[in-house]
Amino acid sequence: MNYFTHAMIHYALLLFLIFRLCTCLDTISIKTNPIRDIDNTVLVSSGETFALGFFGEPNFRYVGIWYHKIPGQTVVWVANRDNPITDSSGFLSIDTTSGNLVLYKTSRINQTVEVVWSTNSSSACSPASDCVAQLLDSGNLFLLHNINKHVIWQSFDYPTNTRLSNMKLGIDLRTGVNRFLTSWKSDQDDPGTGNYSYRIVPGGSPQLILYKGQIPSWRAGHWNGIGWSGIPDMAGKFLFNVGFVNDNNEISDMWGVSDLSILSRLVLNESGVLQIFLWYKGAERGWNEMWSAPTDRCDQYGRCSAFGLCDSSNAARFECICLPGYEPRSPTQWHMRDANHGCVRKPGSSICSKGEGFVKVTNVKVPDTSNVTVISSSLSLKACKKECLRNCNCTAYASANISKGGSGCILWHGNLTDTRKFTSDGGQDLYIRVDEQELAQYAKKPNGMLASKRNRIILVVSCVTIFFSITFFAYWFCKRKRKESSKEKKLDESERHSDLPFFDLRTLITATDNFSATKKLGQGGFGSVYKGQLVNGQEIAVKRLSKHSGQGMEEFKNEVTVIAKLQHRNLVRLLGCCIHKEEKMLIYEYLPNKSLDYFIFDASRRSHLDWTKRFEIVIGIARGILYLHQDSRLKIIHRDLKASNVLLDSAMNPKISDFGMARMFGEDQIQENTKRVVGTYGYMSPEYAMQGLYSTKSDVFSFGVLLLEIITGRKNTGYINGSPFPNLIGHIWELWKGGRVLDIVDPILCQPFSAQEEISKCIHIGLLCVQEGATHRPTMSAVISMLANDTTLPPPNTPAFIFNQKTSHNADASTSRSGEAASLNSVTITTLEAR
Ligand SMILES: *[C@@H]1O[C@H](CO)[C@@H](O)[C@H](O)[C@H]1NC(C)=O
Ligand SMILES: *[C@@H]1O[C@H](CO)[C@@H](O)[C@H](O)[C@H]1NC(C)=O
Ligand SMILES: *[C@@H]1O[C@H](CO)[C@@H](O)[C@H](O)[C@H]1NC(C)=O
Ligand SMILES: *[C@@H]1O[C@H](CO)[C@@H](O)[C@H](O)[C@H]1NC(C)=O
Ligand SMILES: *[C@@H]1O[C@H](CO)[C@@H](O)[C@H](O)[C@H]1NC(C)=O
Ligand SMILES: *[C@@H]1O[C@H](CO)[C@@H](O)[C@H](O)[C@H]1NC(C)=O
Ligand SMILES: *[C@@H]1O[C@H](CO)[C@@H](O)[C@H](O)[C@H]1NC(C)=O
Ligand SMILES: *[C@@H]1O[C@H](CO)[C@@H](O)[C@H](O)[C@H]1NC(C)=O
Repeated sequence: MNYFTHAMIHYALLLFLIFRLCTCLDTISIKTNPIRDIDNTVLVSSGETFALGFFGEPNFRYVGIWYHKIPGQTVVWVANRDNPITDSSGFLSIDTTSGNLVLYKTSRINQTVEVVWSTNSSSACSPASDCVAQLLDSGNLFLLHNINKHVIWQSFDYPTNTRLSNMKLGIDLRTGVNRFLTSWKSDQDDPGTGNYSYRIVPGGSPQLILYKGQIPSWRAGHWNGIGWSGIPDMAGKFLFNVGFVNDNNEISDMWGVSDLSILSRLVLNESGVLQIFLWYKGAERGWNEMWSAPTDRCDQYGRCSAFGLCDSSNAARFECICLPGYEPRSPTQWHMRDANHGCVRKPGSSICSKGEGFVKVTNVKVPDTSNVTVISSSLSLKACKKECLRNCNCTAYASANISKGGSGCILWHGNLTDTRKFTSDGGQDLYIRVDEQELAQYAKKPNGMLASKRNRIILVVSCVTIFFSITFFAYWFCKRKRKESSKEKKLDESERHSDLPFFDLRTLITATDNFSATKKLGQGGFGSVYKGQLVNGQEIAVKRLSKHSGQGMEEFKNEVTVIAKLQHRNLVRLLGCCIHKEEKMLIYEYLPNKSLDYFIFDASRRSHLDWTKRFEIVIGIARGILYLHQDSRLKIIHRDLKASNVLLDSAMNPKISDFGMARMFGEDQIQENTKRVVGTYGYMSPEYAMQGLYSTKSDVFSFGVLLLEIITGRKNTGYINGSPFPNLIGHIWELWKGGRVLDIVDPILCQPFSAQEEISKCIHIGLLCVQEGATHRPTMSAVISMLANDTTLPPPNTPAFIFNQKTSHNADASTSRSGEAASLNSVTITTLEAR
């Protein structure tokens, strides 16, 4: 062999190696060799950003595109994702008859060649040799006509789980191609079609929605003129170019980075999370995840169901509230933080040409727009409102395009689903249709209110009316004054005959130093209490009732007379009353030892009360309540049982005070329902707090809370360090389930071991009293029997977790109410339910 032939052979070998390893070509045609799995050949784009070839486990071979230079083979597209080749026989070439790009495999048994995947275009080239496949530097794989450069097929039209810069999602109405992302089955090794998809949904105002199967899991929302409404942080970001086209040709979304030196990809991962990754010069840890969605609880589609509003700004609070004019369909579930039943319009609202209007909710992702009506982009917001008012089925409206102050009109006619609040200045204004009364309520609030011209007129008319009324009233009052005082004398005389002592106002003024602040013992929902001393030395407590009882003089007197007859050693004794013009006062025996809360919630004072004493107190309270519920001639529901309403006499015997108050002040007599909720947070049963339903079982609930407080020395509303629960009941329930309930018992009670069994029993009884369902709670007589006897107790059901939040359904999301809860802890409050 001469030197020349030797050199030729070496040269040929080198050429072979170069062809084998260096794959500089970015096109496949009939003339080029196919891309063969067995050869390890890859197709590389001209700028060497992307490569196309075979990847996967030896028995699961796929054709895909990945970043050529970035280590770790990040696959961005897969051809045969659901149809892997089980050996290395696969090859990719242009089909000689149709001109399509086809992936073949060869059967080992009979050597026949089969199609695994194909671009499947009917309009490929003739002759087929004119067709070439080309991998572009954008990551797009083209099948194109080599002569006229017409693109027949492109991989960007058939995305898998990754969206690259400048790739459109959405529908091409001319070709019917719908481009959407679908997750892999497994991020590690199975690119097969997974359960999640992210797509543009036409209809109404088109939206981008992430689905799990057929069920929406997150909504990027509709295009609001500057961005997708559910992704306010992505709109107008310097890094990205975003755009939306909705015309006769297509409904599509464009997305890309403006800086070409940055590589970006949006991935729908296997767990249904969208992630944006960036790769840039100097990126040390490789791909940097810059964004992901869904993230918080409010991102979950329909988190708060129909007519709910999700606001996750306060992590401690339930994130769901009802939109203005709506209330929870199932208040009990709602209180358990279960929003599945959503909200319904408050009963009795009339929203059809009865003076209704709109309340503005700011900074929201507007509800699902799949069934909305969109009206011409030039319509003003005012015209939009008019349009909504015209149709009684219209529940809300918003501006369709919020760029440049807002134009266009979206009208909702049915359920408002998946509305969420954004904390920052993102989102847009949504106008909710409410009835006249609700409108008036919001009119009183400075923020978030849409004050229409109509409302202003109403306001002026009202002011004028009020002015004239006052003038007239003053005149009438002066005329009446004389008549009144003579009538009062007559009343005084008839009162002498009843058994109840009537006190003279002057007597009480003297006794209390003219109701001086130094004599004030406390303040409750019904008025203030003063200490006094009569001329004969007897100490009294004077309750000066607030003036808005809504009750006439005669009825009040009758009521007091009846209640004064109630006598029980565990009820504070009513000594008499005083009525003078608008003043109404009740005079009680004075108890020197203050109230139960003064002792049990104080670290040093509660040591005066050992278990024996506390048990006696519990029994005493229970007997007092039982007397009110069934032993007296009247059935009285206390409605405001709490530690501060249990007074202690000199021998530390409990005496319930304020009984009969609810009766005197209740608008309706003792029956199921009231609009006026009187009570104290932390002690109110869920059905009473939420629906105004009360019965003897609401008192049983309050008793249960009180019992648990006496045992633990803790307030129900107080937070327990390290507890995941907002209140004592929840905490005790958790310990109870874990069999560790004695952990929470006031340590000074655990001294004699013999007491532990009785304490456990009392906690058990307490838990029976605070059960969620009123019917499950025992009656007061059953409670006394359980306390006194050794019977087997039924296991308690889940208690009601009454959370420390305002119960009136105020959905004006623009005013924060986080500060209110704390101040409501210990004072008695009176809520007028908004109707
Ligand atoms: C060749 O073998 C494959 C199975 O490997 C079979 O599916 C196919 O029908 C066979 N083709 C012919 C022509 O026998
Ligand atoms: C190609 O088209 C045929 C018939 O229209 C279809 O059965 C096949 O699944 C298609 N293949 C691909 C890879 O889309
Ligand atoms: C997809 O959903 C099916 C049925 O719900 C489930 O069995 C399967 O595990 C899910 N797959 C993935 C990758 O989550
Ligand atoms: C929104 O309004 C702006 C400014 O008026 C306009 O340029 C834009 O095209 C509008 N967008 C849509 C989707 O109507
Ligand atoms: C999907 O993305 C989320 C958010 O980045 C991440 O927590 C999760 O682990 C990812 N899932 C998988 C399977 O990679
Ligand atoms: C839209 O209307 C359809 C048909 O009435 C209904 O099934 C769907 O739940 C509605 N979507 C929303 C978000 O209300
Ligand atoms: C309002 O809704 C009801 C029931 O869905 C329907 O029968 C009625 O035609 C609707 N009215 C208008 C004006 O759309
Ligand atoms: C509206 O929501 C309620 C409760 O979520 C549901 O029962 C009803 O089917 C919904 N109506 C429509 C039209 O989606």
